[in-house]
Amino acid sequence: MAHPQQRRDLGVVRFYNFLPEATSFLSEVLTGLALPRKALPPKYFYDARGCSLFEQICELPEYYPTRTELAIMREHSAAMAKFLGPDCQLIEFGSGSSRKTSILIEQLRPPLYVPIDIAGEAMQAAAAGLVQDFPWLNINGVCADYTRALTLPVFVGVPIRKKAVYFPGSTIGNFTPEEAIEFLQLARRMVGAGGALLIGVDLKKDKPVLDAAYNDAAGVTAAFNLNLLARINRELGGDFQLQRFRHRAFYDEALGRIEMHVESLAAQFVHVGGERFSFGQGETILTEISCKYSVDEFRAVAQRAGFAPGHTWTDAARLFSVHGMIAV
Ligand code: AVI
Repeated sequence: MAHPQQRRDLGVVRFYNFLPEATSFLSEVLTGLALPRKALPPKYFYDARGCSLFEQICELPEYYPTRTELAIMREHSAAMAKFLGPDCQLIEFGSGSSRKTSILIEQLRPPLYVPIDIAGEAMQAAAAGLVQDFPWLNINGVCADYTRALTLPVFVGVPIRKKAVYFPGSTIGNFTPEEAIEFLQLARRMVGAGGALLIGVDLKKDKPVLDAAYNDAAGVTAAFNLNLLARINRELGGDFQLQRFRHRAFYDEALGRIEMHVESLAAQFVHVGGERFSFGQGETILTEISCKYSVDEFRAVAQRAGFAPGHTWTDAARLFSVHGMIAV
């Protein structure tokens, strides 16, 4: 048992599980495969193997977003912390590897950090890493689907002047602009008037750069995409034959978004949850969109959700942006 003097310097770490039943995975898969244009929600990429493949994607030479955002955070984290202000509770959607968060926490020193992630084990591992670096940090880790309305557990005994949502990684791009507005409205409600949003957003750029980022030479993105089918087989008893599907990703300039699909290489039937789904040769399942924005386009989206633009930090090549915004 630690001495009370010492314990006062240590943060309190708690975890909460608000995850819906596994039935929601099954029902969302059945709904998505029954659509005239088949589609699956990208949040289901992130089982243990999916998380590990995504970590590998972030290190790929073609996948510029992660290293560019990290560089922006390294260069501007002090200014970002100043923008957010003291005694600011930090709520992170999708805690990922926490490298960017670590840079921000070091500068901001928040009284409470609340990572929310559907991948509970990855979130707990990331939180454990942060505790090593910042033993004073209070953490309320929440295992939940942050795309749904959520009441956060309270934490008494620390001064909190405002709340900020941190949403790095350009995961906002995985929503359509209309969905992004709805989602940011949830964030707006969570932080309240005067609260803040710090969000990483990938910028529009030439098609070849974007196409390469989602079609890496090593085939890691392809494995990440096809793992969704493998996960359906493992967890829902599906019978996708992976060698009869392939990864496809391309930048649609008119829509300003990457589309990622799995394409059926033959006419075939697949069974999931007692249902039979027919695939034509060349038919695809849309597994992810990744919208790219100009700085002004994204500000307009955030404004429609109730956030006023504050400051935008970018890299010299203007590949990526981090926006600081205030809830009005
Ligand atoms: C998590 N998200 C922002 C990534 C993206 O770039 O849209 C997911 C990803 N998909 C393929 N590569 C990376």
